[in-house]
Amino acid sequence: MAQSLVLDGESLVAPGEIRRVARRVAAPDPGHLIVARAELALSLDVSIRQFKSGVEPNAIIERLAEALHQIRRRFHPEVWDVIVPIAQSHPVAHYLHQDPLTRWSFEKPRGYSGDARLLDFIYGRPEIEDAVLSSSNLGRSIYAYTRNASSSVAVRERRDILARRVDEIASARPGSAEVLAIAAGHLREGPLSRALSAGTIRRWVALDQDPISVGTVARDFAGTSVEAVNGSVKSLLGGRHALGMFDFVYAAGLYDYLPDAVAVRLARKCVSMLKPGGTFLFANFSPETDVDGYMETFMNWALLLRSEREMGLIASESVTGADVKVSVWPGSNRSIVYCEIQKPE
Ligand SMILES: C[S@@+](CC[C@H](N)C(=O)[O-])C[C@H]1O[C@@H](n2cnc3c(N)ncnc32)[C@H](O)[C@@H]1O
Repeated sequence: MAQSLVLDGESLVAPGEIRRVARRVAAPDPGHLIVARAELALSLDVSIRQFKSGVEPNAIIERLAEALHQIRRRFHPEVWDVIVPIAQSHPVAHYLHQDPLTRWSFEKPRGYSGDARLLDFIYGRPEIEDAVLSSSNLGRSIYAYTRNASSSVAVRERRDILARRVDEIASARPGSAEVLAIAAGHLREGPLSRALSAGTIRRWVALDQDPISVGTVARDFAGTSVEAVNGSVKSLLGGRHALGMFDFVYAAGLYDYLPDAVAVRLARKCVSMLKPGGTFLFANFSPETDVDGYMETFMNWALLLRSEREMGLIASESVTGADVKVSVWPGSNRSIVYCEIQKPE
């Protein structure tokens, strides 16, 4: 699996590094590890017994996800670091990995966490239907849970919010709106934009570090104003693209992997690419998400979670002294938070 690049913003996310970046507190009480291990063992063993005795998968995974969330929340991050590989190597993984979404996330066929095909499982796109149909009955039942978990609902809402913002911005500037999506993945908000299908967006640049995703966007949006660009946070910060100026710049599913210093530098760069009246929007999973423990263990998908306050701090550090309007708000189930920085006209 690809490692390490998260710290310089080039991407490709190693879950262990995310946990190390997130850690900021004093050493744990050694007794806590014993308690946490015991709680984990109990939860995992109950889950196995339930799977074997045919308990409804939804109930099993809901209970397990809540137990993992509580262990992650209550114990020290270093205790959690020990817990994660124990959970991952427990035989219950054999059941959970029958879910195509959990398995894709855990195996990371593209070499990094959170690739665009993984998101396609969350969006329920036709492209992943074969993988779902060829899964076991149990796998499909677990997928019915994971695709409707709070995190997945929030990701679909995020896609809808982005499409709506693009349309609002495009309707305020008919024919001239220029949009930049950073870490665009498969740009699944694109088909939801009425302005794009009406041809009223001047250009919508979709930048991503994964050449497979860039190729998919180039193919799927051929003949539209979408321009697929292969580039990373690092190449953007290094000034290696001449992209021009935009009315709307946004990053979704990216800040969750960026440590604060890179997050601030990227926000500053994005604001510098805004035309007067332009907006930069970035999203981040929040500490209120309740499936974090399941994601970090059985999906091996660690994220840097940020509160509304932390989002506001990134915004204020990136625009010190500038005349901008900053707003921060949570999505409807509070799993994702949004921050918008708007330049004056
Ligand atoms: C979770 S997906 C989100 C995709 C899309 N924005 C969405 O919301 O569906 C994360 C995307 O970020 C891209 N990515 C991760 N780190 C990146 C970086 N440093 N620079 C550019 N793209 C990056 C990945 O290739 C992947 O397509």
